[in-house]
Amino acid sequence: MSKLYNPSPEVLKKAHIKDYDKLYSESIKDPEKFWEGIAKELSWFKPWKKVLQWRYPFAKWFIGARCNIIHNVLDRHIKSGKGDKLALLWEGQDGKERKFTYKELNDEVSRLANGLKKLGVKKGDRISIYLPRLPEQIISMLACAKIGAIHSVVYCGFSVEALRTRITDAQTKVVITADGYHYRDKLIKTKHIVDEAAEGIKSVKHIIVVKRANNDIDMKQERDIWYDKLVKDMSTDCTTEEMSSEDPLFILYTSGSTGKPKAVVHVHGGYMVGIYATLKLIFNISDDDIWYCTADPGWITGHSYITYAPFILGITQFFYEGPPLYPDPGKWWSLIEKYKITKFYSTPTAIRASMRYGAEWPQKYDLSSLRILGTVGEPINPEAWEWYYEHIGHRRCPIMDTWWQTETGMQMISPLPSMPLKPGSAAKPFFGIVAEIMDKDGRVVETGKGGFLVLKTPWPSMLRTLYKNKKRYKKVYWGEISGVYFTGDAAKKDKDGYFWIEGRTDDVLKVAGYRFGTAELESAFVSHPSVVEAAVIGKPHEVKGQAIKAFVILKQGIEKTEELKNELKAHIKKEVGPIAKPEEIEFVDTLPKTRSGKIMRRILKAKELGKPVGDTSTLED
Ligand code: WT7
Repeated sequence: MSKLYNPSPEVLKKAHIKDYDKLYSESIKDPEKFWEGIAKELSWFKPWKKVLQWRYPFAKWFIGARCNIIHNVLDRHIKSGKGDKLALLWEGQDGKERKFTYKELNDEVSRLANGLKKLGVKKGDRISIYLPRLPEQIISMLACAKIGAIHSVVYCGFSVEALRTRITDAQTKVVITADGYHYRDKLIKTKHIVDEAAEGIKSVKHIIVVKRANNDIDMKQERDIWYDKLVKDMSTDCTTEEMSSEDPLFILYTSGSTGKPKAVVHVHGGYMVGIYATLKLIFNISDDDIWYCTADPGWITGHSYITYAPFILGITQFFYEGPPLYPDPGKWWSLIEKYKITKFYSTPTAIRASMRYGAEWPQKYDLSSLRILGTVGEPINPEAWEWYYEHIGHRRCPIMDTWWQTETGMQMISPLPSMPLKPGSAAKPFFGIVAEIMDKDGRVVETGKGGFLVLKTPWPSMLRTLYKNKKRYKKVYWGEISGVYFTGDAAKKDKDGYFWIEGRTDDVLKVAGYRFGTAELESAFVSHPSVVEAAVIGKPHEVKGQAIKAFVILKQGIEKTEELKNELKAHIKKEVGPIAKPEEIEFVDTLPKTRSGKIMRRILKAKELGKPVGDTSTLED
């Protein structure tokens, strides 16, 4: 039996939604009515003729409507007299502070939007953003959206090769980056990485450079331009482009079970409706909230719940440049005290890492401003949940364990503050969402039994397709179990209808919440001259959830040394990025394979964990 935490009278009193069950059953009886009601809370240039067109497996929402997400992020707040409200509070790793009211943010976005236009950027062009956590990272995304350009944000922890693949695939016209930045005490030379990544790619016409670290960089004449110089003389007037609700807003690369990362496509209309509704209702947003999400806009969490939704809701948010636990394990808690954060959204890995340093760190700070906590990215173990509840939320703040994906765009399964909480469970589907546990053949699995988590109906912020690859979209998401969206996760549902997410079932790893395809990592190994073949598995890790373990076959005559292991680790860091550094490498002579030559990672994993290897009838040897 798991523990149950009932909402306090205080939390219940403030909750926007007091009766989940009633609204949920109404919402799934008529999802279009539910979503239409939400959509009407937002501003549109022209209303829709029809809420949903579902031509399986392709959905269109708010058909015929004209809109732009920026119209809701900025324009409508300025119009309604909210211009002087603080939108963004930023603090650098060096303690430097910057502040933007809605009006100031709008001015910055408009200036850059005009700058991009001057450089020849047009509606539909792809812009790659490779920036550390600076206000300009958010401003760049918003400026693209404002003029109808499609942003492709690449997390700046990715290396040259990963960035190069993404620029090539997107046929990027402009890259926005920084000279460099400090990550802990290390200088990362961001512009150098971009120079290498964009080398020889014809589509790249310009590179815009934000000055951050003041390190020496090469500026290529005509191609490269300083951000400050570009925006300096630009007007703060820029009309927000009228888009169709189904026009793409961004593409975002994510890992799947094949080697090549795929670009998920999200659009203006449905996406803004979905992220607005979820943030508002799950985090019970009110006008006086101060929001702090520790994610990076390089990932979907940052897109949805840093760059867009908090501003659509017109609240103030805090954005921090530095990494977790730096310069000391109390840093985040000190920021909560300093900025009087009311809603805090983070990850299980960060909570577990903090736990290791002990409760004396959060105890140093006044955390009484907090009202609701959140977590995302991987399953949270009940011990970490309890620690978060006790030492950060002081048993006052409900924890929203939100399950969702890059592809879903918005939070899909989560408690609401008014719901009883079970540590380790993501609770129940959001309004309008129908989730189920099924076996491989699409049969609903009994209550309490594990199976595949699937989604049975479309939702407004769902991915529309994979960029330039409809076929793969159909196969990956709708081809595994016919008729339903396949999440790739294993889960079970208990007798109260609470969902328990158990982790990935496909060849995708979640390492510290970061998503990697095993094939992607394996091909990085094989690109090293000493390696013939490699197989990668995720191994349980106390803090990171999973850690990367690689089994490597070396070329004949190459010595199996510790130095070579270190060299391979460095190689992966260079090929993919520091976030993908393997924890463990083992040299082996063979790998278990099926007769058709597929590596059976399942067997490697079972052996590694000392578990039964299961069915080996397809094993070749
Ligand atoms: C995968 C999606 C959604 C933003 C960050 C991750 C895992 C996500 C939870 C949660 C258990 C979770 C799933 C999912 N996941 N949230 N609350 N509990 N697992 O986005 O990189 O697209 O990864 O993250 O395995 O499929 P992503």
